[in-house]
Amino acid sequence: MASVKLEGVWKIFGGFVAVRDLSLEVGDGEFLVLLGPSGCGKTTTLRMIAGLEEPSRGRIIIGDKVVADAERGVFVPPKERDVAMVFQSYALYPHMSVYDNIAFPLKLRKLPKQEIDKRVREVAEMLGLTELLNRKPRELSGGQRQRVALGRAIVRRPKVFLMDEPLSNLDAKLRVKMRAELKKLQRQLGVTTIYVTHDQVEAMTMGDRIAVMNKGILQQVGTPEEVYEKPKNTFVAGFIGTPPMNFIEGTVREDGFIDFGEFKLKLLPDQFEVLQEANIVEKTIIFGIRPEDVIVGEGDLRGIVEIIENLGSERILHIKIGNVTIKAKTNKNIKEGEKIKFKINMQKVHIFNKQTTEAII
Ligand SMILES: Nc1ncnc2c1ncn2[C@@H]1O[C@H](COP(=O)(O)OP(=O)(O)O)[C@@H](O)[C@H]1O
Ligand SMILES: [Mg+2]
Repeated sequence: MASVKLEGVWKIFGGFVAVRDLSLEVGDGEFLVLLGPSGCGKTTTLRMIAGLEEPSRGRIIIGDKVVADAERGVFVPPKERDVAMVFQSYALYPHMSVYDNIAFPLKLRKLPKQEIDKRVREVAEMLGLTELLNRKPRELSGGQRQRVALGRAIVRRPKVFLMDEPLSNLDAKLRVKMRAELKKLQRQLGVTTIYVTHDQVEAMTMGDRIAVMNKGILQQVGTPEEVYEKPKNTFVAGFIGTPPMNFIEGTVREDGFIDFGEFKLKLLPDQFEVLQEANIVEKTIIFGIRPEDVIVGEGDLRGIVEIIENLGSERILHIKIGNVTIKAKTNKNIKEGEKIKFKINMQKVHIFNKQTTEAII
């Protein structure tokens, strides 16, 4: 096992900055999820850790070994890094049995036959593949194939697992199942894991911590609770949570209210104090509230329910007040077109600087 450390890592392709000044530390045995939209630099980051890509600047350290140092011209090739990577397309050898697919990396290393057999059977047992060892990949389901790919990574007993959207080719139901299985397996093995995904639900459910990236820049690192409860900026706030947080522009007034034009909300005294100190009174801010923190059926606010999205266990209401629309999560039985009472849970309010998009509250 080993920790992974990135220090001021950059990757520049031609003139294009794919990863900008990334510093990140993944603890020994930790499950870290690298989360962000397509094209934000996740795969590039993972490939630099694996040694498939050389950083343009900065250092990468695995355990106590510097595996890349752009300034000093240090670059340890992938084979000598003791990391195993699992990709989205799990590229099994079609003509080989499950057994031989899993055994392959050990045969490459010329391990004794007996040792190979022991390890393959151990891993197969762990992944529920024992009955399938003689089959060929084409005789397996998507989930089974993905498990074989995992088996091939696990069997090497690497110091670090790098996984690049390994579940995104599976159907929704299987993805949920594999999510839990992978997490359990990682706990069992205790191997440091960096898992890349663009799916925030996957990140929230699997990660010990989540590192959120956008446009090559690390936005925030924290536990799922931290990034959800205390997003650092509007990007993180909007990227994590479904449906996304409501953002409404408003002006903070001298009397401690936020003025949205159509309606006003009274800030809690300590919130107003923070805004006063931030010198934000009489300025436009971005107000954020999650749909689950909009409480329907009580309170002073009034709105018309324009659209209802029924998700079975709950409904998402699109509430219109003048030209502002606020989404609310509820399980109350309400009809489209209905006029309703609602309120905002002021304890859960987020306030962002409009210019910098950074969170103030
Ligand atoms: N070999 C390359 N040459 C030029 N640009 C690249 C190369 N690899 C990736 N990029 C660019 O870098 C950015 C980040 O890519 P990538 O790391 O694959 O993003 P993600 O995995 O988050 O979707 C993208 O804009 C992509 O087009
Ligand atoms: Mg990618």
